[in-house]
Amino acid sequence: MRIGVLTGGGDCPGLNAVIRAVVRKGIEVYGHEVVGFLNGWRGPVEGQVRPLGLDDVEDILTRGGTVLRSSRTNPYKIDGGVERIRENLARYGVDALVAIGGEDTLGVARRLVDEGIGVVGVPKTIDNDLSATDYTFGFDTAVHIATEAIDRLRTTAESHHRALVVEVMGRHAGWIALHSGLAGGANVILVPERPFSVAKVCEWVRRRFEREYAPIIVVAEGAVPEGGAEVLQTGETDAFGHVRLGGVGTWLADELAARTGKESRAVVLGHTQRGGTPTAYDRVLATRFGLHAVDAVHEGDFGVMVALRGTEITRVKLAEATAELKTVPLERYAEAEVFFG
Ligand code: F6P
Repeated sequence: MRIGVLTGGGDCPGLNAVIRAVVRKGIEVYGHEVVGFLNGWRGPVEGQVRPLGLDDVEDILTRGGTVLRSSRTNPYKIDGGVERIRENLARYGVDALVAIGGEDTLGVARRLVDEGIGVVGVPKTIDNDLSATDYTFGFDTAVHIATEAIDRLRTTAESHHRALVVEVMGRHAGWIALHSGLAGGANVILVPERPFSVAKVCEWVRRRFEREYAPIIVVAEGAVPEGGAEVLQTGETDAFGHVRLGGVGTWLADELAARTGKESRAVVLGHTQRGGTPTAYDRVLATRFGLHAVDAVHEGDFGVMVALRGTEITRVKLAEATAELKTVPLERYAEAEVFFG
């Protein structure tokens, strides 16, 4: 059997660990061949392919990014995209695909399975917003990076009696904000799931200053003020219809400064949250996902995504995995609220 692997959507730490596990187990345990399609779904559409042997994955476990590169290509937005995938799979003798991605990449995988192409999905995203798995790999690393940034920003904020607003990624889910804010002892955490009152944030900020502490406000890029709208970087959308979020941190810092008279600065962590080496947790999770994905391919169990449930790796239908986003439940947010102000 020849297995094709691809990584689609925004990159995240741990992608190479999945690729390595698929190659190692695919070749050494099952005796299959593995090839890599480059640049997400663009690879199978345009026939961009490279061999993936044991030597190719020798030292990639700890490396961030993806050796197969990525893109946000949507084959369903390309004329004849699906037919070209079918032709290229036949041309390169590829029997099945392992697609490593988030809601968009896996959404394409689900549709391809309906068209008779054998695909197994692996859940990846720093946003942790896939509902069928307890965690996606990449999330833990992003939370670590954001937490370290909060720790560092706290000491400089204290020195200068400033409020510091830390904007983190996560798109429409507040998981990175919630976890890094809790871990970093933020004074306010703002998530997309709960529109926030600027007046209330000002009250918490003032209270914090009264106690001679500099407040740290962690705001998710998709957080929305009451009665307002998401702040966008540009009006453009990508091939999956997503807007580019960003800017709420700077907007909020300006509001806080104007309303409280306290110096307030914003720091946007941006793509640093997706870069560099994965944490040990993400290396282990990504490796286990890769091992179980190749098992599913070997068994011909297509149309599934490997998922973490508790400590077990299970399989769920791709249709279920992409049905709805996993957002922060309000009771989880309420836990964090205890520490606000
Ligand atoms: O989905 C991962 C993510 O990093 C989101 O948190 C963020 O909104 C988006 O991707 C940024 O995408 P890009 O790298 O295309 O700017």
